Amino acid sequence: MDSSFAPPFFIAKLSPSEQQVDAWADQSLLDSLEQGGVDWPSSCRNGTCRTCLGQLVSGKVRYEIDWPGLSPEELEQGCVLPCVAYPEEDLVLEDPL
Ligand code: FES
Repeated sequence: MDSSFAPPFFIAKLSPSEQQVDAWADQSLLDSLEQGGVDWPSSCRNGTCRTCLGQLVSGKVRYEIDWPGLSPEELEQGCVLPCVAYPEEDLVLEDPL
C-alpha cells in the first residue's frame, strides 16, 4: 500500500455528547455532521450567516474561501463554520447549543 495515501476521512467527535461521525476530507464538515445524523444548525451554507458557528476543542480545519465569516480572533479561539470548513485531521467539536 502506498504510505503517502491520505485517508479519505477523519473522525469528528462531539463533546460532551460523544457523538461521532466520519468527516470526509473532500466535503464540508456540516455535510459530514448531517450525514452522521447530527442535528447541527445551519442556514446559508456558504459561510456568511454564522448560524452553524461551532467551537473546536481540538483538530484543524481548512477553508476553501478566503473569508469564512470569522474574525482572526475567532479563528484563533477555535471558532469554526462547519458549512465551509473541511477537516485536516481528527476533530473534537463542542455540541451545538
Ligand atoms: S450555515 Fe451560514 S455560515 Fe454556516
